[in-house]
Amino acid sequence: MSSSNNEKVISKASPHTVKKFDLIEEYIKSWAQKLMLNEACNGLVFIDCMCSSGMYTDAEGKFVKGTPVRVAEALLDVARTYTQKQVFLYLNDNSKDKIKELKKHLPSDERNFRIVTSVGDGNELLKTIGLQLNQTNHLHFFLLYDPYDASIDWEALLPFFKNWGEVLINHMISDSIRAISQVKNDSAKKKYEGTYLVDDVKKLIPFGSNKAAYEQRLREIIEFLKGYSERKYYIAAFPFFNTKNSLVYDLVHCTSHEAGFKLFKTTAWKTFGDKSSLKNRHGEEGQLMFDFTGESACKPVVDDYCYDVYSIVSYVQDNFCGKKDVPLEDIWSLLDEHPVFPSDGYRSQIKSVLKQDFGAQMLRQKTEKINFSDKRG
Ligand SMILES: C[S@@+](CC[C@H](N)C(=O)[O-])C[C@H]1O[C@@H](n2cnc3c(N)ncnc32)[C@H](O)[C@@H]1O
Repeated sequence: MSSSNNEKVISKASPHTVKKFDLIEEYIKSWAQKLMLNEACNGLVFIDCMCSSGMYTDAEGKFVKGTPVRVAEALLDVARTYTQKQVFLYLNDNSKDKIKELKKHLPSDERNFRIVTSVGDGNELLKTIGLQLNQTNHLHFFLLYDPYDASIDWEALLPFFKNWGEVLINHMISDSIRAISQVKNDSAKKKYEGTYLVDDVKKLIPFGSNKAAYEQRLREIIEFLKGYSERKYYIAAFPFFNTKNSLVYDLVHCTSHEAGFKLFKTTAWKTFGDKSSLKNRHGEEGQLMFDFTGESACKPVVDDYCYDVYSIVSYVQDNFCGKKDVPLEDIWSLLDEHPVFPSDGYRSQIKSVLKQDFGAQMLRQKTEKINFSDKRG
């Protein structure tokens, strides 16, 4: 979002922003259902510490609901279904007018459903909530950290990485790429130094316009902050492209739970239409190249910023190339560890592409197994 657009109480939401709302809404619906079915979970806490007004207009001037309103409506349904469990929402923005607008669109509190709105610095709010996280036994939190520029206060996020729950960060890479090479004023320098945890912004200049370098730096920071090295932690990142086909930001999902990680990947792929982003690949999707060297079966045209099912299958084929009697479970486990590729929701498609386009043989035994072709994908 440009800063002038951000200043408006009801700002314009571009198509990629609406996709962001769709993804978060769908994920929260499934995440809440999954957790509420778990006896050990007493309830949910959703925090959007930079939530804006919850109301936007789209390209045609029609009103579109933003994340806080969508999530509030979805979680109210959940609270009404699971009446013995509690649902809390904390919605904050540093603009008084945006919170005033937001309140017009939020549902009222009910016995087990409560919304707390506030005006102030989202990082300060997180520092206050963060101190109480240990006491919120058996309440599961989801924190959305969604500034409109590349500023991340890691100190505020730290308790959320260490405790049970999930964090979704909007990493505004386009801001970093645009500004870091020419940054002059001290407060802007401090912002980027804080976001990428470097003592001098000049250390970021070699990153240039290399998106992957910024993405990798964010991963390193999260890996470091999640605590002791044996603690399993899952990070899934999905890029968002605008209509000019430029990368605007990554949504980075962080959790200590494999189930949440898998669910987020599947939800993202479904939201993007069975792909890993909205990037326009100009018809390259699903294209297979014939390999005249004979080393590979057939190679899909892979784009690291927009994978499709063929990219998943090619990755699987490379991993198991030439292997016989591979249990299907081994394929799903490989994908479950991958930062972008899902297995849930795509298993039959993956099996059929493996068979039809990559020459794999399905063996029907007690447990399904598969013989891989000896060509690379
Ligand atoms: C990208 S919008 C949030 C969109 C919202 N999360 C959604 O999905 O509908 C970013 C908002 O963060 C607010 N903001 C930026 N920095 C903030 C801070 N440090 N504390 C509180 N609000 C902040 C801005 O005023 C803006 O309304």
